[in-house]
Amino acid sequence: MTDRYVVIGNPVGHSKSPWIHAEFARATGQDIDYGRLEPPPDGFNAAVDAFRAAGGRGANVTLPFKEAAFRYCAELSARARAAGAVNTLVLDRAKVFGDNTDGVGLVRDLQVNLGCTLEGRRVLLLGAGGAAQGVVQPLLEARVARLVVVNRTAARAQALASRFSGVQGGGYELLVEGVYDLIVNATAAGLAGARPPVPARVFAAGALAYDMVYGRETPFLEFARAQHARVSDGTGMLVEQAAESFLIWRGVRPPTEAVLRALRHG
Ligand code: ATR
Repeated sequence: MTDRYVVIGNPVGHSKSPWIHAEFARATGQDIDYGRLEPPPDGFNAAVDAFRAAGGRGANVTLPFKEAAFRYCAELSARARAAGAVNTLVLDRAKVFGDNTDGVGLVRDLQVNLGCTLEGRRVLLLGAGGAAQGVVQPLLEARVARLVVVNRTAARAQALASRFSGVQGGGYELLVEGVYDLIVNATAAGLAGARPPVPARVFAAGALAYDMVYGRETPFLEFARAQHARVSDGTGMLVEQAAESFLIWRGVRPPTEAVLRALRHG
């Protein structure tokens, strides 16, 4: 029987994960079927219970269920624990296992696809929601020199920073000083056509501006481009987090280059 996987979210109709995993399966000769599940906001546990009971082997989890998935799991990876969120469920074990591949997906996209050195770099992370939480630990593990988290609600950034040693957190007023080699936008501002209030002065010469939102030029990226920064949207992170999930489920790392190219150039 074909092994079944799903992406669980609400809304989930726009998700590119079924297409990406179908491409990975084809490239690696794996026999899998990957669909979508859209439970109501309070229906996550029931939906996963039913999918697992029907033989479902694993799932990706997207907004707004990553924290619910974290609570659902009987066992968690260290990186899921650090993130406080789960985007990858392994359902075919005695105990449901949860992992988080978002951070490693971002770091891989930066280092491998974009050729960006992280070690020794000054990094600014915008936002303190689920998307930001998932990437702090992996950025620290890549040995960045400095990591500052700023958020519209300063207390949220302070709370996030305080969970890690050597990370500074606060409101946008922290940006009156300091310049950064890498600025990662993990806010949802771009989805609403808005831009986090980053001053032009924070972009170091040759800086890379990265927006986790994918498939569009956000106001943040437009602004960064105007400051002569290199820019990237989050398409590569999307593909790399998917590849890491595929590796966890299938024991084989799929090639990502052709998938990324196809998504970028339609
Ligand atoms: P996610 O899981 O996608 O991170 P979230 O937990 O709702 O979703 O967090 C959204 C993030 O985007 C938050 O950091 C939010 O700032 P607040 O914590 O102050 O709400 C940030 N955000 C959303 N719209 C924004 C805007 N227009 N300008 C700046 N930050 C914004």
